[in-house]
Amino acid sequence: MNSNQHETPFLTNLIKARDAHEYSFHMPGHKFLPDKNPLMSSLAGALIFEADLNEISPGIDYLHAAKGALLEAQRLQAEAVGASRSYFLINGSTVGNQASMLAAVHDGQTVIVPRAAHRSVYGGLILSGANPVYVPPVYHPQVEFPLAVAVDTVRELLRKHADAKAVQITSPNYYGYLSDVGGLARLAHEHGIPLLVDEAHGAHLPYHPDLPSSAIQVGADLVVQSAHKTLGALTQAALMHLNGSLIDPAHLQHILALMQSSSPSSLLIGSLDAARQQMALNGRELLTNAIQLSKYAREGIRTIGSLWCYGDELIGEYGIFAHDPTKLVIRVSDTGMNGQTFAAHLAQEHNIFGEFVDPKHIICSITIADDQQRVDYLLNALRTVAAKGTQMAAKAAAPTLVAPELPQMVINPRQANFAATRTVPFSKAIGEVCAEQIMPYPPGIPMLLPGEQIDVNMVDYLRYVKGQGVSIVGPEDTSLETVRVIAR
Ligand SMILES: Cc1ncc(COP(=O)(O)O)c(C=O)c1O
Repeated sequence: MNSNQHETPFLTNLIKARDAHEYSFHMPGHKFLPDKNPLMSSLAGALIFEADLNEISPGIDYLHAAKGALLEAQRLQAEAVGASRSYFLINGSTVGNQASMLAAVHDGQTVIVPRAAHRSVYGGLILSGANPVYVPPVYHPQVEFPLAVAVDTVRELLRKHADAKAVQITSPNYYGYLSDVGGLARLAHEHGIPLLVDEAHGAHLPYHPDLPSSAIQVGADLVVQSAHKTLGALTQAALMHLNGSLIDPAHLQHILALMQSSSPSSLLIGSLDAARQQMALNGRELLTNAIQLSKYAREGIRTIGSLWCYGDELIGEYGIFAHDPTKLVIRVSDTGMNGQTFAAHLAQEHNIFGEFVDPKHIICSITIADDQQRVDYLLNALRTVAAKGTQMAAKAAAPTLVAPELPQMVINPRQANFAATRTVPFSKAIGEVCAEQIMPYPPGIPMLLPGEQIDVNMVDYLRYVKGQGVSIVGPEDTSLETVRVIAR
């Protein structure tokens, strides 16, 4: 790796500009004066205002027309991860996924997308006007969530939909499981189309050889990472990486300028520059520690009789190609508590908050910020809460839900988004075209999306899960007495 990875061009200029204490007669309105903003200063410290500079100040380059420090910071980022170009994002992987879709497909073009995608991917479908062909979710029998996308499934979809212009996948997911991204990239390229990867949970992957390969390293064309999720960057700070020649960088740059604020936060950008430098210089050492702590935590959890922590043993089935050890997927259902109850005990009695909860599991993420003391605290708390559970009368876990087939798409997400709608009783909605997203949560996979036809099996299924106490997320009327449909 090039020795200038120790440099932080943007952050260094930001510090210089802050220390210059200019007399500002321009935005932002706080004029970098903390005493004029006492409440925010008491929350975040005075320095946050002093460093909240923008491109008007000397040396602060502009995200949408980077020429100096910011261009170099992004170049260093690309070099650190092995991308041909990297882009700093100030609206999370959310804007990255939306922009990926817009860069790869447009009105009426077909894109292959797994159904278990983040809502920003659906946002990208609405914005682009593309026609999705969904990869049906295959629920892992133990974890009861689709953990990966199998190459053969996508091959079959590409055979049936030879007009597809891109494949989009999420890998790793919340649970830390990865698909065979290299295999999917080769497959997409055989068809002459790009592979877009939502790697929101994998920004740390490029920096350690014992972690699964990042999508950037195995041939994906566009990769989106939340640097705030697993690295040290501030919330909302994210990255996009480009490789290959299937996506036009000028078009991508244009889309990013269209979708992101014209007043990008230097704090967010500075945090990306710092996070890259830290990982490029010390990532291996920091992640070695995180991996060892994760191993220690996983082994410790497995000694607690009523708990289990998943790991590599799920690799090889259901499309699972690799596992990120820093994600602790802890099965708590054998304690007699469901994930939500277990998580509530951890929060109320130990002030511990995990990353994600489902009916059977809590998911805790170990990062470069953790240490032995913090992991021991987690292990002790898990032990205490687990013991409480086994003393309680065993409560039934949430029922295993067998979902109906994916509904038929009548109009695409964009057309549905702009169509006139009306509200009908849910019981009378059979045959209508849904105008809303309807998602039982957990597991958080949309059962109906705008533009899809509502059939009798779907009505029965959604009523059944609602009756089981599962929350319904997305529609205006979450009681599902009524539903919004496309007006005829
Ligand atoms: C799989 C996945 N993709 C994308 C996102 C959006 O990321 P961000 O919060 O950085 O916008 C999330 C956020 O939780 C996510 O879980």
